[in-house]
Amino acid sequence: MKKERSLLAVAILLLSTLLPSAAGSYRVYSPKVNDMTEPTGIEESPVFSWRLSSDAEGCSQTSYEITVRDSDGKEVWSSGKVSSSRPFGVRYQGSPLADNRQYCWKVTSYDNHGQSATSDWNTFSTGLSSEKWTAQWIEITEDRKKVEHSDNPMAAVFASMGGGPAKPYVPEDELDRCQYFRKEFNLGKKIKRATAFATAHGVYNLYINGECVSEILAPGFTTYPHYLEYQRYDITRNLKQGANVIGAIVADGWWSGKLGVTAVGNQYGDSNGLLCQIIVEFEDGTTQTIQTDGDFRWSYGAYVYADIYEGESFDASLEPKGWKEVGFDDSSWKSVKTASYDNSILKGRLAPPVDIVRTIVPKRLYVSENGQTVLDVGENIVGRVASTLTGEKGQRVTFCHQEEADSKGNVLVTLNGKHKEQITKFTFAEDGTFTYTPQFTFMGFRYVIIDGLSEGASVDDFKVEVLNTDMDITGGFSTSDKRFDRLQENILRSQSGNMLSIPTDCPHREKAGWTGDMQIYAPTATYNMDVKAFLAKWLTSMRYDQREDGSILDVIPRMPYINQTCAAGWSDACVIVPWRLYEEYGDPSVLEENYQMMTKWMDYVSSQAPNYLWENGFQYGDWSLPKTPDRYRGNGGFMGFGMDLGNKCVATAMYAYSASLMSKIASVLGRSEDKDKYDTLLDNIRKAYIENYLREDGRLEFDMQGLYTLTLAMGLTDDRRRPAVQDHLLECIHEMGDHLNTGFLSTPFLLDVLLSFDKEMARTILFDDDAPSWLYEVKMGATTMWENWMAIPEDHNSARASMNHFAYGCVGDFLYREILGLQKGAPGYETIIVDPCFMEGFDFVEGWHETPYGRIELRWEKTGDGIRMDILTPPSTNTIVRTPSGDKILDSGKHCISFAL
Ligand code: BGC
Repeated sequence: MKKERSLLAVAILLLSTLLPSAAGSYRVYSPKVNDMTEPTGIEESPVFSWRLSSDAEGCSQTSYEITVRDSDGKEVWSSGKVSSSRPFGVRYQGSPLADNRQYCWKVTSYDNHGQSATSDWNTFSTGLSSEKWTAQWIEITEDRKKVEHSDNPMAAVFASMGGGPAKPYVPEDELDRCQYFRKEFNLGKKIKRATAFATAHGVYNLYINGECVSEILAPGFTTYPHYLEYQRYDITRNLKQGANVIGAIVADGWWSGKLGVTAVGNQYGDSNGLLCQIIVEFEDGTTQTIQTDGDFRWSYGAYVYADIYEGESFDASLEPKGWKEVGFDDSSWKSVKTASYDNSILKGRLAPPVDIVRTIVPKRLYVSENGQTVLDVGENIVGRVASTLTGEKGQRVTFCHQEEADSKGNVLVTLNGKHKEQITKFTFAEDGTFTYTPQFTFMGFRYVIIDGLSEGASVDDFKVEVLNTDMDITGGFSTSDKRFDRLQENILRSQSGNMLSIPTDCPHREKAGWTGDMQIYAPTATYNMDVKAFLAKWLTSMRYDQREDGSILDVIPRMPYINQTCAAGWSDACVIVPWRLYEEYGDPSVLEENYQMMTKWMDYVSSQAPNYLWENGFQYGDWSLPKTPDRYRGNGGFMGFGMDLGNKCVATAMYAYSASLMSKIASVLGRSEDKDKYDTLLDNIRKAYIENYLREDGRLEFDMQGLYTLTLAMGLTDDRRRPAVQDHLLECIHEMGDHLNTGFLSTPFLLDVLLSFDKEMARTILFDDDAPSWLYEVKMGATTMWENWMAIPEDHNSARASMNHFAYGCVGDFLYREILGLQKGAPGYETIIVDPCFMEGFDFVEGWHETPYGRIELRWEKTGDGIRMDILTPPSTNTIVRTPSGDKILDSGKHCISFAL
């Protein structure tokens, strides 16, 4: 990750490392500003957080003191000693922060044992408020190729799902070339400090004197008509007194590239563009601004096309040699045209950038039985291949990225169809050895079919760069049954791959911010990674995209030329995701910030559900049902996805779920009238559901596992019929040979519901390793979570659907919460509850989690007829351990307890 540190910060840091940073074992770590490590270019007022650690029992932070200094060393805020046990959510209250400045801060935390701990100095920098932007947007002077925006998007959806081999087509004919921009400028004096602010309509690489200074795939994906992020780069060391040159390449990215299930281009604009403003401060106190304007020149170069979906083609013979350097003759380049757009939509950083989070050495390069030359990464990842290629002038090497291979190693082409190819190409300009790493695209893949390699190429010529939004991993999980360790690994890998700028359904076919997928997975996501800033940023796009009538779309950011709708369980993400963030991080501001959006959404649903039953409009139902029960074949079950089977029950159950969360949210925010309103609403939905959907014998219109699961999970039955509803759920499970048969919306609740009345059946489902089941995927060698439980048959000779959808990874929440037993007793883990269900089949389970207070470590082990438990909890928390003989209350620190089961 590119970090900026002023000399001052480095000097202070060096000094601070010479001094003890903590007395005794008390320690502060993981200091963050706005939930990011050393963020650059923030506009929101800073909110500080850190984590605590101590070996002492019963340790608690009693107070803290924060100091903030500007880059000249002047103190701009000292909080003084503030009494508080919380190491997070501290708002900056000093003198107004200037635009475009770097600041240093540190915190000293005091505990109740007379110890204190001080962090290193950490930095953050501020952005450029919209009125300070003087740069002009620059664009090329040629029209882009026309894109048809179909007036029948559903037809396009069906066409795109048809599968089959890709129609022969030449991407070069349809896609546009990347745009190169450059301008030289002179700096006449000694430079003290220089900063570049940049953004694009498209994605960009920014070069200063030949060196790329920008983040990967910047500015990322936001709801562009309302919200475009810009980036801040410290370029002090890149500039020199004298002649300098700024260069940039702009590719289509999410702005104008193919997007959505139907891969429609130009969704946000017909032209790409660049906006950049460089502010140079000289030693003598004067400043100079260099910015995009009419003096820039443009041309095309080696990137014949680059597209988020399609891949990219780099023809080295088309690269203008030396164009990024001073002195290049750009007389054959054209003058740009300038354009102006609403700068008020520009925003500073809200979440960490996309970065290379891991580099993998691929497992092998082999020739498959059917003659394909294949690079096997060894795991299904999201990113790009960095290659060192040797060849001759005109030779082209093509990389086709796919997820699966059959039992003989032949790559199975599951991602196909126009614009879904994930193919990158490199063409040699001359004989020799060259390196090539795609810049303006990313792929989801394990296998790469490589065509056009020279004799002698070896696996050592390739590295794989894993890309995702750079977030801390905050949890791990391991058990005596190693299959679950693998499941956890797979879940985490799918999470990381589907969190690249936005949360996506899958990293290849659609790369879209499907709201349902995210809400289903949110509880697991928060155990595994620090997703607070990332999801809060996505919710910002969601707020902008909410429609006038209060409806929330199924994909955020909205794609204007994809037929989008709102639907139960998808749109409810606007309530569920903020609530999950609050539960995990204990910060009510995420509820406050999104409250209006939630209430508008609830009003919208109410308008669709006049009698408290949500029966109007389109629904996905319990989407992606593994198998339509035979008796319902031909009776709905759209495309086998379970959409039409009981979708009214599903929608009304989700309405009840959101109403119940709204009551809790209103209560946290102290809005007692609203709380009463949502309590009454929930009561009415419940009554209407029972009266209209639940028969006397506890049956629903459709006998389906998912529907009974949701009915029980949302409390939509009365005491009298509950046992019958439970029996019907078990009957439906038996009918499937004791396999689960639940879709997207009910799966997150299935194991909890079963655990509440039939622990043995919960165990049967969790330990099942025949399809459909979680362990079937593990058994079949999956390295990620699949979209479809049965995507690969036992013979492993075919594959369908996406191998990288995190939705069914929702079981991770159950593993942490019930199998490990780590639960939130109070939001943010101020109170920790340890309450494993001690399921048969696990001899021990161990795991860890970085909470907002600090690290929890937990291990339990079966010992004859009892349990031994080792627990480490962070300062300022207390823990309740539930045991058969009653609750044990523990202070923070290390504990080892034993009890009989
Ligand atoms: C996506 C899903 C998504 C669904 C909507 C699919 O094409 O991949 O994950 O939620 O559409 O039901």
